[in-house]
Amino acid sequence: MLAELSPALTAEVQRAAKLLASKQRICLLTGAGISAESGIPTFRDKQTGLWENYAAEDLATPDAFARDPKLVWSWYQWRRQLVADKTPNPAHDALAQWQYHTQSSDQQLTLITQNVDDLHEQAGSTVIHLHGNLWRNRCSQCETPYQSQSRDSYSSEDSSEDSIDFNEGLIDCPHCDGYIRPDIVWFGESLPAQAWQAAEEAAANCEVFISIGTSSLVYPAAGLAQLAKQNGAKIIEINPDPTPNTIVDITLAEKAGVIMPLLIQQITAL
Ligand code: APR
Repeated sequence: MLAELSPALTAEVQRAAKLLASKQRICLLTGAGISAESGIPTFRDKQTGLWENYAAEDLATPDAFARDPKLVWSWYQWRRQLVADKTPNPAHDALAQWQYHTQSSDQQLTLITQNVDDLHEQAGSTVIHLHGNLWRNRCSQCETPYQSQSRDSYSSEDSSEDSIDFNEGLIDCPHCDGYIRPDIVWFGESLPAQAWQAAEEAAANCEVFISIGTSSLVYPAAGLAQLAKQNGAKIIEINPDPTPNTIVDITLAEKAGVIMPLLIQQITAL
């Protein structure tokens, strides 16, 4: 299988596997790119990225929700519909397999994601969510959690943009006069404190930091690699396209679904 990669990339995968097998504290940060091969659009990829086709400031900020809650709610309902039938790909599976493997070794692996889908969990991983969860809701005013959406209630028959129902009803909070919103971190909002603290600790204490499928443009998450580097960690990046991340020690420029199974196969064999 390694033969499918170029000799240079094959050598880099082997170098990464050796490094990872020799270290104990590993921290991984995933972004939208890891779910791309499951059919979930990323945010910034040309043509297909959500922020290439929609304005984030109209849909993913507290101001946007205050201005037009129906629009924002409908858009997230559409995103739920888009994700409802998606399943983990070989990258999620390989990561879950590695995490399982480390339970009987002295390696400590902390998986952090910026993704709001639950494909890591579906694959069997334990994961820290920095940007919330697409299936959870809470009140936009009193913050009380509201019942989660069930993926089964979303028909995946038509998830085209035309199917966005802009008359989708808003839900009133049973405790105050606020509207229910998705439990997602929007631009300008703070990250969940506990999740962020756990992520910072893992990044600061790791020996290797792996960045997978993220453009490394959105802070504070993008700063975790820098924090790891400042504390002496080696940085590995898995992304078919270049990113502004200039502190990378090993670049594996291929899709996560191709690299991760090969990498994990090699690490666990060493
Ligand atoms: N494997 C690995 N990487 C991939 C793949 C793939 N199959 N396909 C695309 N990528 C890479 C792209 O090259 C890009 O660098 O994934 C990255 C996706 O970047 P973004 O769309 O910017 O997604 P992300 O980094 O997760 O965005 C961060 O921005 O809008 C917010 O809250 C949202 O969590 C999100 C945050």
